[in-house]
Amino acid sequence: MRDAASTGLVDALCRASRRDAGLVPEALDWPESVAGAWCFSPERISIHGTAAYEALDEDGRKRLSLLEAVSFFSINVHGERLLIEGLARRLQRPETQAYTRYLHHFLAEENRHLECFGEFCRRYAGGVYPEKKVALAPIDPASHDDFVFFARVLLFEEIVDGYNRAMARDERLHPLLRRINALHHQDERRHLAFGRQLAHEIWREHAPGWSAEERRRLQDDLRLFLESTWHEYYNPDVYRDAGLADVFRVRAEGWGTHRARRRAASEEATRFLVRAGILESEEAA
Ligand SMILES: [Fe+2]
Ligand SMILES: [Fe+2]
Repeated sequence: MRDAASTGLVDALCRASRRDAGLVPEALDWPESVAGAWCFSPERISIHGTAAYEALDEDGRKRLSLLEAVSFFSINVHGERLLIEGLARRLQRPETQAYTRYLHHFLAEENRHLECFGEFCRRYAGGVYPEKKVALAPIDPASHDDFVFFARVLLFEEIVDGYNRAMARDERLHPLLRRINALHHQDERRHLAFGRQLAHEIWREHAPGWSAEERRRLQDDLRLFLESTWHEYYNPDVYRDAGLADVFRVRAEGWGTHRARRRAASEEATRFLVRAGILESEEAA
């Protein structure tokens, strides 16, 4: 973030963060129950369109939508926890001096998001679902590590934001769910603007010194990360809690049914990285 333009971006983002707190616990009213309401857009439920979904009655589908919301928020809790760890490690380092001010806002905002998502899962279900993330290989040296960290964050947040934007507008959803999605999007817009700029700058600065083999490895890492992120959206614990039998078969059916939808969402998430020359094609998981 050494460019004059991006220093301006850091100032603008810090001002916006001070002015527009989005998803904070104080902004939410927690009703006694959300039972009987849609908590997740039906078409975005991971097994929508499968035989198992079709066999459920309206109440069963709404119950499933609550569990899918809990799973989505759990993905956010685990993802943002790792994000907070990574941001904390990067605070006040000489290399991050130009944008450390914004990292403090970023970290503080993710901490509040985690609080809200965790609270929802605790109030309306048995708590946060366990982490399903596949451990990916550590990356070094430092310039690779920073690039991979911020590029993974960008992909993770782009996918989440696609869901947030759609569900914030979905009038079938319980008002609490619409509000959580809308407020999260309000903060994530800034994180995405920052992440796009930073991933691009690190790439521009370091990639010319990386061999073709190194660049290919980093690109493979991002594709693998994208695929492993999508796997988290198909959670057998959800299907079990919804009372479905043979949950791994159900999961496989959902995964197969939603290939085109996933591809479209991945392309949206990778579009920036392709335009920046970081990925060669909008390949999806
Ligand atoms: Fe967040
Ligand atoms: Fe974020």
